[in-house]
Amino acid sequence: MTTAPIADRSTLVAARATELSKIYGQGETQVVALDRVSIDFRQAELTAIMGPSGSGKSTLMHCVAGLDTFSSGSVRIGETELGSLKDKQLTKLRRDKIGFIFQAFNLLPTLTALENITLPMDIAGRKPDKQWVDSVIQMVGLSGRLGHRPAQLSGGQQQRVAVARALASRPEIIFGDEPTGNLDSRSGAEVLGFLRNSVRELGQTVVMVTHDPVAAAYADRVVFLADGRIVDEVYGPTADSVLDRMKRFDAKGRTS
Ligand SMILES: Nc1ncnc2c1ncn2[C@@H]1O[C@H](COP(=O)(O)OP(=O)(O)OP(=O)(O)O)[C@@H](O)[C@H]1O
Ligand SMILES: [Mg+2]
Repeated sequence: MTTAPIADRSTLVAARATELSKIYGQGETQVVALDRVSIDFRQAELTAIMGPSGSGKSTLMHCVAGLDTFSSGSVRIGETELGSLKDKQLTKLRRDKIGFIFQAFNLLPTLTALENITLPMDIAGRKPDKQWVDSVIQMVGLSGRLGHRPAQLSGGQQQRVAVARALASRPEIIFGDEPTGNLDSRSGAEVLGFLRNSVRELGQTVVMVTHDPVAAAYADRVVFLADGRIVDEVYGPTADSVLDRMKRFDAKGRTS
């Protein structure tokens, strides 16, 4: 008799860190930036990472995104273990499977908005899926600005170009390090709305670092870091519940 295969839970995981540690320096100057962090980022979920300055948020994101090396533990993107990859393979994986949105928009000033959006695929020698790219451009509301260079766009519009660029190649996962940190609240709300729509409507997986409880409330789940460890998790956050949790950090110390 054969048993039906049990659905593999791991297929729902876009990225996973297991016992991930990152230690900078040695001896007296040693800093444990990440202390055996284990976390799953599930597909089609928007996760916000919060925590005090220096708690390891950027380090976690950079290690999981293959932008930085780690000291021990393991990371996988989809089914691929990052530790098993050579430099070239890692570069390819970052290019093909991961999208990035940084606080500083990182657009090339000499290229138009549209050229910036398709640049990663142009570099990879991949033909953009025109229909898809069009729908992404429409979603972020850039149709009338495609021929403009970054200097001719507002901050919010530039960040929307960066969001469209991250979405355009349909990566398995998008990482944003304070993607709305440089935007006024209205532009920030727009960009967060697009990110959430990309999760709801397109099944995109997004992980973002933020300091802002209002931004975190757009997420499906908020993960709190303190001193390089995960200390709490909130599902279905509201700005108030996130703020409440942050206050408890302050009142009871960083690892309450
Ligand atoms: N290149 C480095 N060399 C030594 N220590 C580092 C280095 N980069 C980061 N750190 C340390 O690792 C810890 C985690 O840093 P990280 O940048 O991940 O913090 P963060 O949570 O993103 O903070 P912020 O909210 O200020 O951006 C900090 O104590 C920091 O000083
Ligand atoms: Mg940081």
